[in-house]
Amino acid sequence: MRAVHRRRSKERTLAEQQVDAVVIGAGPGGYHAAIRLGQLGKSVICVDRDEVGGVCLNWGCIPTKALLHVGEIARQISHADALGLKVAGLQIDRAGVVAFKTGVVEANVGGVKTLFKANNVQFVYGEASFKSATEILVKKRGGGETTIAAQYVAIATGSAPVDVKAWPRDGEVILNSDDAVQMKRIPKNLLVIGGGVIGLEFATAYTRLGAKTLVIEALPAILTGIDAEIGKTLGRILKKQGVEIVLDTKVGTIDKSGKTAKVTFNGAGTGGKDETREFDMVLVAVGRRPVTDGLNLAAAGLSTSEKGFIDVDAQRRTKVANIFAIGDVTGAPMLAHKGMKEGVVAAEVIGGDKSAAFDPVAIPNCVYTDPEVATVGLSEEEARAQGYELRIGKFPLAASGRARTMNETDGLIKLVGDAKTDLLLGMHVVAPQAESLIGEGVIALEMGATLEDIGLSIHPHPTLTEGIMDAAEAAHGKAIHIVNAKPKAATR
Ligand code: NAI
Repeated sequence: MRAVHRRRSKERTLAEQQVDAVVIGAGPGGYHAAIRLGQLGKSVICVDRDEVGGVCLNWGCIPTKALLHVGEIARQISHADALGLKVAGLQIDRAGVVAFKTGVVEANVGGVKTLFKANNVQFVYGEASFKSATEILVKKRGGGETTIAAQYVAIATGSAPVDVKAWPRDGEVILNSDDAVQMKRIPKNLLVIGGGVIGLEFATAYTRLGAKTLVIEALPAILTGIDAEIGKTLGRILKKQGVEIVLDTKVGTIDKSGKTAKVTFNGAGTGGKDETREFDMVLVAVGRRPVTDGLNLAAAGLSTSEKGFIDVDAQRRTKVANIFAIGDVTGAPMLAHKGMKEGVVAAEVIGGDKSAAFDPVAIPNCVYTDPEVATVGLSEEEARAQGYELRIGKFPLAASGRARTMNETDGLIKLVGDAKTDLLLGMHVVAPQAESLIGEGVIALEMGATLEDIGLSIHPHPTLTEGIMDAAEAAHGKAIHIVNAKPKAATR
């Protein structure tokens, strides 16, 4: 009896395993799904060709924020004089910066591995593809392959940078974000193509560490899609910090000879004329694409949309009932925290919760420039386009006592409200700590708060959060710390 049992389990590990769920991809969406499945008592295998944590922990959110933090400290040191501190010449030890970043990544990756173990999630390094809707073939990283039979599958394969054929990436002179985060060197002259989130975050980090940076954006504004006033405010601050930004302009040719690139660009920003400049590094940051290659979706009865995404319903279920998809692979916004929530929802549905659904009122968006930008809900432009009559309250950081104590008075807090109901529709911030300030807007939107509710709530003093209260009061012409734009009878 014992021998038979031993033989069976051996066969199972070699040829086939049977589990409740397989999660393909161990990024933020995937690891959230896998851990919650484990918590719900499901047997779960998570497969990834690369390290646990995906782009977020290894290439994106975490390492870039480590680099940006170093950059922010460098900026603080270079301005320390204004605070009465004499700091002898700042030197950048690139290798030390990279070691700090690598340590941060390793600690986070180790943390997720520990959580996998604690929640009985089995992790396998390998390439996963569908053999059928319930069978996953895994080509293991160390060689060999196995087939896993799973009642449920969650696809969390994420996204990758868009590479432009005309500007072939070599990782040395022409880089994408995966190369830039490795910070093999700090260029003298950096060109960033694309004034989106990735372009501006790297422009900030590299400028802080000594690069002279030009950002070229094809559209007439940076961070297209966010509240225009917030985008303009950030653009002005970045320019003041030495980041050159050219809008409404397209890069034509990149002529790479040796260790530099001659780049020709043309558009409204160059007065319609060709302009050619030389850079020793070019970062292409023109968007990300969903990753589904190699998954053999057809074998599971699945296909992608025209833009390459996998369509899902509110429960993150694909058109094949036992297969779910979460994170960047399901479409915009490509944000780690959206993927995380989707992962939890998919796991809860697999666990039998019929009411679980991804239906967020608010998905915050943070851009880690210096100062940061954070937004949630409708921008002024979006709210107008949706036909709302608006009540807007703004608070410039220049009027914040706390901002003055930090010597960081450049920035704006803006609340967009519905004039008829006074309900908050959106919150938009460009300020230090914007990433944390926005949490208040998220809760306010989810709970259906009015501008009055926000204005009446006692905020701690002295903090930057008081600016949110003042912005709400300003919407009613009652802000204390700024001269209200149009003093008028109180609206409550
Ligand atoms: P993006 O779509 O945000 O920005 C790309 C920009 O490049 C656009 O403004 C576009 O107009 C411009 N562009 C395109 N072709 C161009 C050309 N030929 N010349 C000049 N400009 C050109 O894409 P990005 O920055 O690559 O980010 C990708 C995704 O990753 C986004 O969805 C973003 O939300 C996500 N992400 C989020 C982060 C965060 O939450 N902090 C950090 C990094 C990425």
